[in-house]
Amino acid sequence: MNPNQALWEKGDFTRIAASMRTSGDEVVAGLGDVTGLDVLDLGCGDGTTALPAAERGANVLGVDIAENLVEAGNRRAAEAGLENLRFVQGDARNLDGIPDDSFDLVVSMFGAMFAPDPDQVAKEMVRVTRPGGRIVMGNWIPGDPTLVAQILKISSAYSPPPPAGFVSPMTWGVEDTVVERFTGAGVPRENISCRPATFTFENDEPASEFLNDFRTYYGPTMNAFAAAGENGREADLHSELDELFNAQNQSADPGHTTIPATYLQVTVSV
Ligand SMILES: C[S@@+](CC[C@H](N)C(=O)[O-])C[C@H]1O[C@@H](n2cnc3c(N)ncnc32)[C@H](O)[C@@H]1O
Repeated sequence: MNPNQALWEKGDFTRIAASMRTSGDEVVAGLGDVTGLDVLDLGCGDGTTALPAAERGANVLGVDIAENLVEAGNRRAAEAGLENLRFVQGDARNLDGIPDDSFDLVVSMFGAMFAPDPDQVAKEMVRVTRPGGRIVMGNWIPGDPTLVAQILKISSAYSPPPPAGFVSPMTWGVEDTVVERFTGAGVPRENISCRPATFTFENDEPASEFLNDFRTYYGPTMNAFAAAGENGREADLHSELDELFNAQNQSADPGHTTIPATYLQVTVSV
């Protein structure tokens, strides 16, 4: 199987996505009036942004490489009674079957950044966006001191080196690289803007339990623990991550975790 698909079908990302709903809703609120817009949510997971966009009156297609998340998204759409929202399996590298100029808005929160072949991903996002439309991406920032960048950094120290030619997903969090990719896809420089923004994870468990959810359900963290286990270093990885989760937690309630994380919000006018 495609290793990118296998990574995200591993575990159950819906257990992490449950902690992302409040900020997902805020991201969509920040997109302005989406009523009647045709929206693509790329790397949509189980619909953290797709669902609130549909609730606000957009016609939404969610595309994700993981079959289990597509199924979970369609279940959530049915439970919410949303007929203007559907999820299909697809690869951001090749949006086969989606004609040119199909969407007014393409959104990808921490989604397309995880697809291999980023130049091709940028081209596909531009291709399916109508002239006059917008692309909005949320991308984690390499070296950032907040949660997700640090999870990925700590995990990489316990994992084997990536294969030759591997391009880190975190490169989507570097403004100059983002500009290179979208200008390479034909967008003028002045139509591309980047700014730091905050996404907050909210979970009704103590921070150490929230880490256990990542360890049990989040593909990249599961892989890091598997690699650490091969060298007898699982306990070291756990203790580094436990310290991180507890240090980043801003909740005063010991039974709840609130962790804000910084990301790069990219807006491209097509
Ligand atoms: C960190 S999750 C974010 C999910 C969702 N956007 C959210 O905010 O909850 C990354 C998502 O990107 C999807 N993904 C990874 N590679 C992909 C690809 N090549 N094409 C489409 N989706 C992809 C994964 O399956 C996963 O659902």
